Amino acid sequence: MQIIYLDNAATTWPKPPGVKAIMAEVLDQYAANPGRGGHTLAMKASKILFQTRMQVSRLFGIKNPNDLFFYLNATQALNQAIKGYLKQGDHVITSSIEHNSVRRPLEYLRRTKQVEITYVQPRADQLFYAEDFRQAIRSNTKLIVISHASNLTGVILPVQEIGQVARSAGIAFLVDASQTAGILPIDVEAMGIDMLAFPGHKGLYGPQGTGGLYVSSAIELEPLIHGGTGSQSESVDQPSTRPDRFEAGTVNTVGLAGLLAGVEFVLEKGVENIHRHEWGLAKQTMQKLLEIPGVEVYGPDPSVERVGVVACNVSGVDASEVSFILDQRYGIATRAGYHCTPLGHQTFGTLEKGAVRASFGVFNTEQDVERFVAAMREIAEAFHS
Ligand code: ALA
Repeated sequence: MQIIYLDNAATTWPKPPGVKAIMAEVLDQYAANPGRGGHTLAMKASKILFQTRMQVSRLFGIKNPNDLFFYLNATQALNQAIKGYLKQGDHVITSSIEHNSVRRPLEYLRRTKQVEITYVQPRADQLFYAEDFRQAIRSNTKLIVISHASNLTGVILPVQEIGQVARSAGIAFLVDASQTAGILPIDVEAMGIDMLAFPGHKGLYGPQGTGGLYVSSAIELEPLIHGGTGSQSESVDQPSTRPDRFEAGTVNTVGLAGLLAGVEFVLEKGVENIHRHEWGLAKQTMQKLLEIPGVEVYGPDPSVERVGVVACNVSGVDASEVSFILDQRYGIATRAGYHCTPLGHQTFGTLEKGAVRASFGVFNTEQDVERFVAAMREIAEAFHS
């Protein structure tokens, strides 16, 4: 049975062929340690890393590539940004659809540093408005942190408008681009983004174990990890120069070479084209699912543009059971449960039951939509007949 992969919001798959090719080339020919030696192979490893930094910077409108630090995933990047920035008693504003990678570090700081948190809710139309973030500002507000888009329903937050709110109030602005890097246009300067955390293994089509954080030169962060950088080794302190200050330890050179190929694939395809394709499939899916008796679809009306993520359930049936049947009987890979966002489930009314999530990538087709919808129809009929 040919597998239909609809779990791209967790990790995109398959990857463009160039990703595997360049990773194999680096591993075979020059997987030495970048920035740690002057020999030819170490220099070649440094060069591929530099190219990745340049191309990711190009994608996000980052002026100085040294303001971009590589991590293993968006979670590590978010931890560095949140825990490196907030101090005792600060107030932070966030949204009520955040992933645990934002919520847990914030709640940890609430317990350990008395950081105050405001979770801004969507309005009745299930959308977020910049004005509501402005209203939440207090005298000790130091940071606004939001997901660019929900990993549950694909709802897009008005990043540019919230960025203006943050900028005019002199508050730092951190964006979690886990569901939008490589999928929606992102320009850190134009959108007023001071810090941008992103995974390499989702919309950028790199391998797992890649991701990063952009931090504007105007923002001072305390590094979370201390250690070797291959620079200023005689000093007991972490170097002040970027990116070394935030990249202690050997980076994932082979993976980041794969990320380079992934980003070049995205740049060549065009972010707008990728979004149009994925959103087109998701919208079609929602419209067809809504016609099936006994199937629930969550989030705003399908006329509201989002990223390519659909959350649904067969009424009265456990989401994990539906996802299991989709996998075992139909060869369709979805993700069920809480998607690491109990906050999102609470906001969209699915905290009691979770949901089945189908998420689209650049390689999905209309035939995939047809097969998924037909499978959901059969499952709903089987349980409701
Ligand atoms: N954050 C990823 C997801 O939404 C893993 O599935």
